[in-house]
This record gives sequence, structure tokens and C-alpha cells, in this order.
Amino acid sequence: MTPGDPVAELAGRMKSGPRITVLTGAGVSAASGVPTFRGPLGLWRNYAPEQLATPEAFRRDPKLVWEWYNWRRELIAKCVPNVAHTVLAAWSRRYPDFTLITQNVDGLHEKAGTINVVRFHGSIWEVLCWRRCPSSPERWWDESVPLPNIPPSCPYCHGLLRPGVVWFGESIGSSVLDRSYEAVKCDLFLTVGTSAVVHPAASLVAEASSLGAFTVEINPEATPSSGAVDLAIQGRAEVVLPSVESLLKNQEFEIRDSRS
Ligand code: OAD
Repeated sequence: MTPGDPVAELAGRMKSGPRITVLTGAGVSAASGVPTFRGPLGLWRNYAPEQLATPEAFRRDPKLVWEWYNWRRELIAKCVPNVAHTVLAAWSRRYPDFTLITQNVDGLHEKAGTINVVRFHGSIWEVLCWRRCPSSPERWWDESVPLPNIPPSCPYCHGLLRPGVVWFGESIGSSVLDRSYEAVKCDLFLTVGTSAVVHPAASLVAEASSLGAFTVEINPEATPSSGAVDLAIQGRAEVVLPSVESLLKNQEFEIRDSRS
């Protein structure tokens, strides 16, 4: 451990069992093979968000939108959590006050065993009736891959189903926002693998900071948050998080895996 090492500083701050909130983005799933949205290999390089991830796009061409989601579901179904997911899952069970807010819709945090996950942008494995027909539940799981019919229809009213994700121009659900704003009242706020350009998720780090949290970013590239956080760690999630974990494991500290 070298003095001024940001990884060691983060591990040091985790020693006393602080209240921790982590915001994750697509970069955390990159090592699992899930494409990110921005950057040279990002999904938005080849697809226009307004043609695929808005209510208007769905209204215009539900088949096209569902073909894209079906393709992503097939791709994600083959992916497994990577070591970044595993470390975060271990922390969620070790720290009594730990919340993970994810913008990812892939479900890999849950697959890794993370508890107390707030799915900020919904889940690609959930569906709901497009018309919100009165007979249907608010939303439900459907993990069929590939989908037998595209676009799939609501089993209650036979109208259209839509993916259970948040599209551009849509609001975040009030219970998700409530849980997130509760979670920013923490001691340590980590933002990991997100380009920090999509709001309101991107505002959570500033919110946490204004409430007194120590803020840390983990990302191989600079983002709009990099200059504002207390500690910016330049590196990949699947490298930095295990390094922090191994320092923690080598330290004597009292926090036990009490929530498992
Ligand atoms: P982006 O694709 O915008 O950003 C991914 C970030 O991950 C970038 O800042 C990369 O530098 C970083 N990154 C890449 N590989 C990494 C690695 N191995 N470890 C750590 N970081 C890495 O994805 P998000 O920020 O998640 O929303 O995007 C936010 C939202 O925009 C998404 O939830 C989605 C998208 O459009 C909706 O669809 C509503």
C-alpha cells in the first residue's frame, strides 16, 4: 500500500462500517459482456435512443422496439456476473447499512446475490401491459428467451406488452425515487461504471455530497462527476473493486457478513 493510493484510501474509509450507497452503470457489466451505451463500442453508436428507447418509438413501431429488447435479452441471458458484481454482493451482505442503486436493467447484481438493490431504470426481465389494463398486475417477470411472439401481447387484454424499463422522457417511479433519496443519506457514496450524464441518476452523487457523504468515483475514464467527487479512482470496476476487497480482507475489522 503506497501513501496517497486512492484504492487504499477507499478501503480505509470502509473499515469502520460506514453507511454505504453505490450507484452503478453499464461499466460494471462490461466485463460480463453486456455492451455499454456510450463510447466507441456502445449501443448508442449503432442505434438511436429516440428510435428504440422512448414511448414515441414504441407507439410508432412496437415490433422494432421489441426486436431490439429481445436481442438484448438473448445477449444478457448468456452473461454471468463478474468479480465487480461479486464484491458488491459481498459488501451488501457485510455492511448493515448498504444500498445498491443500479441503472442497469440486466439483473446481474441480483444474480450475484446482492441484497437491497434499487432498480433505478427497471428491469429487462419485467413486462407490463402497455395500456395498463385493469385486469393485469402492475408488472411481472417474464424471462422467456427468445420471446415466442414479437411483439408479445398482454395475457389479460390481448393488447401490447411493453418492457419494464424506464425510457427516455419517462419519470422514475416514486417508490424508487424515495428509496434512492433515502439512500443518499450515507457516509460513503460510490459511483461506479457510469458516464454520469443521464439524470436524475447522475444527480445522486451531488445530492449525497451535499448531505455530507464522502464521494468516490470508479471509472477508467473521466466523467462530468470526476471533478466533483472527493476521490476519483481511474480504473475498471472488475480491477478496482477486488483490490479494495483484498485490502479489506487483509485488515482487521469488525464488520461481519451479518446479513447473509
Ligand atoms: P454508459 O454507456 O453511458 O457509460 C458507461 C460508463 O462505464 C462509461 O463512463 C465508461 O467509461 C465506463 N466503463 C466502461 N468499462 C468499464 C469498466 N470495466 N469498469 C468501470 N467502468 C467502465 O452507461 P450508463 O452510465 O449506465 O438508460 O448509462 C446511463 C443510462 O443511459 C442507462 O441506464 C440507459 C442509457 O441510455 C436508459 O436506457 C434510460
